Amino acid sequence: MAHKNNSHYDVIVVGAGPAGFSCAIRCAQLGLKTACIDNWLNKSGQSQLGGAHLNAGSIASMTLLESAKIYHQLNHDIAKHGIYAETISLNLPQLIKRKDKIIADISHNMANSLAHYHIDHIQAKARLLNAQQVEIISAEKQTKVVLNAKHIILSTGSSPIKLENVQVDNEYIINSIGALSLQEIPKKLAIVGAGVVGLELASIWNRLGAKTILLEAQEDFLSVVDQQVSGEAYRIFTQQGLDIRLGARVIAAKTINKKVCLDYQDQEGTQSLRVDKLIVACGRKPNSMLLAAPEADLLLDENGYVYVDKNCRTNLPGVYAIGDLTLHGPMLAHKGIEEGVFVAEFIAGQCTPINYENLPSVIYTGPEIAWVGQTEQDLRAAGVAIKVGSFPLNANVRALATGKTDGMVKIITSAANDKILGVHIMSTLASELIAEAVLAMEFSASSEDLSRTIHARPTLSEAIHDAAFLLKY
Ligand code: NAI
Repeated sequence: MAHKNNSHYDVIVVGAGPAGFSCAIRCAQLGLKTACIDNWLNKSGQSQLGGAHLNAGSIASMTLLESAKIYHQLNHDIAKHGIYAETISLNLPQLIKRKDKIIADISHNMANSLAHYHIDHIQAKARLLNAQQVEIISAEKQTKVVLNAKHIILSTGSSPIKLENVQVDNEYIINSIGALSLQEIPKKLAIVGAGVVGLELASIWNRLGAKTILLEAQEDFLSVVDQQVSGEAYRIFTQQGLDIRLGARVIAAKTINKKVCLDYQDQEGTQSLRVDKLIVACGRKPNSMLLAAPEADLLLDENGYVYVDKNCRTNLPGVYAIGDLTLHGPMLAHKGIEEGVFVAEFIAGQCTPINYENLPSVIYTGPEIAWVGQTEQDLRAAGVAIKVGSFPLNANVRALATGKTDGMVKIITSAANDKILGVHIMSTLASELIAEAVLAMEFSASSEDLSRTIHARPTLSEAIHDAAFLLKY
C-alpha cells in the first residue's frame, strides 16, 4: 500500500498488463517518478502481474499448446521416426500446474523489474477521479487512498464478452479464462466462436483428446485472414479432427444433469447439441466499466472503448489510454506494448509515431498463422494492381526434414513498384518468421530485396526468400 509521502507521482499507470507494464518501465527509464496499480490476484490470492495476456491469454494458452503438441506427437507421430513408446499417460493437473508455475515466474520477473526501476507497485483497484487524481481501493486493507499525478495512463485491458442466454458457471459453461485451467479432459467439447481465442483453445483440447466442435456465426472461416491462407487452414484443421460448423449462431445454452445442452441456428433452422463442456470465446470488451468516476467525464464510445486521439490522449488533459481499452488497432499485446512505450516517450517530450500499418498478427494454432499488411482480397477489392508469390511449405527442405510441411508463405507486392504490401504465413513457427516480413515492410522493402537477401539453408525462412523469388517471373 502506498504511503502518504508517496502520493505525488509524475505518472500513474493503471493496469500492469503488457501495455501498462511497458509504459511504467519506459516512464521510469526516462526519469519519471512512477506508480503502477493493478488488482489481478492468482488462485492463492497473491498479486500477479501481466494481466489477461499472461494469466488468461496468449502466454497461458501457449504453455498448454506446447504440452498438447508433445502429447499428440507421442501418440501419433513418433512411430514414423521408428520410435515407439509403450504407455503414454497424461496427468492434466500437472500440465496445468506447469502452466501456472511459468506464469508465476514471469509475473515474479515483472515485479522484480518494477522494483529495479523504483516503480511503486500498488496492489489495489484504481478509479480515475479527475485528470490528476486516482482513488485506490485495497480489498485487503479495506482502505481508500487518493494518489496524485501529473499524468495518468489507463491500461486496464479487456475481458471476455458474455453471451445472452448463456450463463458462464465456470464448471460446465466456461469462458476463455476457465478453459485454461480444466482439471479433466472433456470427452465432447463445444466452443462458441472460431476466432483467434476459439481456435487456439480448440488446438489445445483437440490435441489432448477432446472431440471438439467449433460453432461460428459467420459463414466465412477466419474472415480477417487472407482467403488463400484461411481456406488452407480450414482444410488442415478439419483434417486434424476439428469439427468446424460455419454459419452456426449459438442462441442458448444451459447445464442439465452435468451436461451442457445448447441450441444454435444455422441455414436449416435450430439445432441442438449436448456436450460435456462449453467454452464461450466470442470476443472481448474493454475493461472501462467503473474505471472512472462519473464526475471525471472520461469520454467512452457506445461500446465502452475509451476515446483517444492519435497520441493516445483521452478527452481529459494529461490522461492517456492504451492497449485493448481503445479502438486504435486490434486487441494485440504487442500493439499495447508499443503504445505504452510511445506514451511514456511522448510525456517525456519525444514523439515517434507508431506505424499501425505494419502490425503483425498471429494465431497460435498448429501450424501457426501469422500475417502483416494487407490481404489479397482487400487489395483486389480496392482495385490495387498486385503481384502474388506463394511458396508451399512442402517444397521447403527444413519443413520436409522435420515433417512439418503444412502451410505456405505468400507475398503480395505492388505491380507498379514491387513494394511489399502484405505477407501471409502458415507454418510451424510462423510467429517467428513473420518478424522478417515486418522488418522488410518497415524499411519499405521490395520483393526483390527479399529475394536478394541470403537466407541460411536449410531453414524455414528460405520459404520467404523463395516466395519472393517467384515474384521475379
Ligand atoms: P474474435 O472476434 O476473434 O472471434 C470471436 C468469434 O465469435 C467471431 O468470429 C464471431 O463471429 C463469433 N461469435 C460471436 N457470437 C457468436 C455466437 N452467438 N455464436 C457463434 N459464434 C459467435 O474474438 P476472440 O477470439 O474472443 O478474441 C478477442 C480478441 O483478442 C481479438 O481481437 C484477438 O485478436 C485478441 N487475441 C489475440 C491473440 C493473439 O494475438 N494470438 C490471442 C487471444 C486473443
